[in-house]
Amino acid sequence: MNATNNEKFTITINDTQCVAFRGETVVEAANRAGINIPTLCHDSRLEPAGACRVCLVEVEGQRRMQPGCAWIVQPGMVVHTETSRIDRHRKVLYSMYMSDHELDESGLPVATANSNQLRQLCETIEPIVLAPVEAPRADRPGDDNPYIEFNPDLCILCARCTRYCDEVEAVNAITLSGRGSETTIATAGQRSLIDTTCELCGGCIDTCPTGALIEKKAPRNLVQLGTDKRRTTCNFCGVGCQLDLHVAEDRVVKVTSPPPGETLNDGNLCVKGRFAYDFIHHQDRITEPLIRDANGQLQPATWEQAIEATAKGLLGVKERHGADALGFISSSRCTGEENYLMQKLSRAVFGTNNIHQCAAT
Ligand code: SF4
Ligand code: SF4
Ligand code: FES
Repeated sequence: MNATNNEKFTITINDTQCVAFRGETVVEAANRAGINIPTLCHDSRLEPAGACRVCLVEVEGQRRMQPGCAWIVQPGMVVHTETSRIDRHRKVLYSMYMSDHELDESGLPVATANSNQLRQLCETIEPIVLAPVEAPRADRPGDDNPYIEFNPDLCILCARCTRYCDEVEAVNAITLSGRGSETTIATAGQRSLIDTTCELCGGCIDTCPTGALIEKKAPRNLVQLGTDKRRTTCNFCGVGCQLDLHVAEDRVVKVTSPPPGETLNDGNLCVKGRFAYDFIHHQDRITEPLIRDANGQLQPATWEQAIEATAKGLLGVKERHGADALGFISSSRCTGEENYLMQKLSRAVFGTNNIHQCAAT
C-alpha cells in the first residue's frame, strides 16, 4: 500500500511528531521517520496481508493492538510501538514461531543461504520454552526444477512468496494449500515448478523472510565464505536491471537484486539475470581476441591487433564494393552510449546508413 495522494498531516509515534501521507500505513510513516517496527509478512511491493502479527502496535482509541503494516494513518493518530504489552506479545509470538520451526544448536531458527528475518527477530527475546509443534506440512519431493528449493519446515505461511508470484509476477504458480497445521505452499497437483506456469524468476526466494525458499545453485555456506557484494548492470537485455554479484574467492557464487526501492528493477529480476551466471567462469568462454590465420586457425591476439584487422577488413570491402556493401548490427545488450557510437561508426566513419539494432525488429 502507498500514499494515495500528496495530502500530508501529522501523527504521533512514540511521542515523536511524524509526517504522514493520506493512504499510507503506520509502518510506512514510521519507516520514513526512522522508527523501526519489526515485520515479517510485509513487503513494500505487495498489498498488506496482516498475516504474521509481528508488527502489532498500540493505537490510542483502539482496544486491540493493530497491524502496523495494514493500519492506515489518520490525522492526529497517536501510535505506540514499544510498550510492555507489545513486548509481551512479541515474546509469545516469536516463541510460538520457534516451537514450530527447525532450530539449530543455538536454539535459533536455522540460518540458510538467505537472510533470515525470523532468526534476527528471535535473537531479540529470551524465548518461552513451548512444546514443539508437530506440523506435517506437505513437501514437493519430486520437484526437480534446477533453481528453487522449498523446505516446508522453515515456512511460517506469511504468503509473501505467493503474493509476490501473483501481484508482481502475475504468474500464480504457487499457492497456500491445506488447512491448519497441514497448510503449505503448493503448486497445482504438487507438480515440479518447471511443469507449472512458473517463470523461475526467483522473486519468491528473495522475498521469503525465513529461508524456507532458497536457491539450489548457491553454496549453503555463503556466510562462512565471506562474500563481497559488487553492484553491476545486467547485460542480458537493454532494460538495465541492477544486480548485486556475490563474490567469493574471485568467483560469482550468487546473484541478487538490490533491495526494493533502490534501483529501477525494484528488487525484481528475471530467470536470466538471477540464475544465468555460470557462463562467467565457463571454461569455453572466449577471454581474449582471436584472429583467424592464413590456415583458418584462430590465434590469440591483442586488442590493438584485433581492431586493426577488423578495420582493414571493413575498409577493404568498402574499397572493392562501395560503402553500402557494409552493414552494421548493434545489440540491445549494449548501453545507449555504445549504440550511439555504433551508428556514428557506420555513418560518419564508413559512410553508410546500413545500421540496425536487434531491439528495432
Ligand atoms: S520463481 Fe517467480 S514465477 Fe516461479 S513461483 Fe517463484 S515468484 Fe512465482
Ligand atoms: S515459503 Fe517463505 S515467503 Fe512463502 S509463505 Fe513460507 S515463509 Fe513465507
Ligand atoms: S508484517 Fe504486519 S502482520 Fe505481518
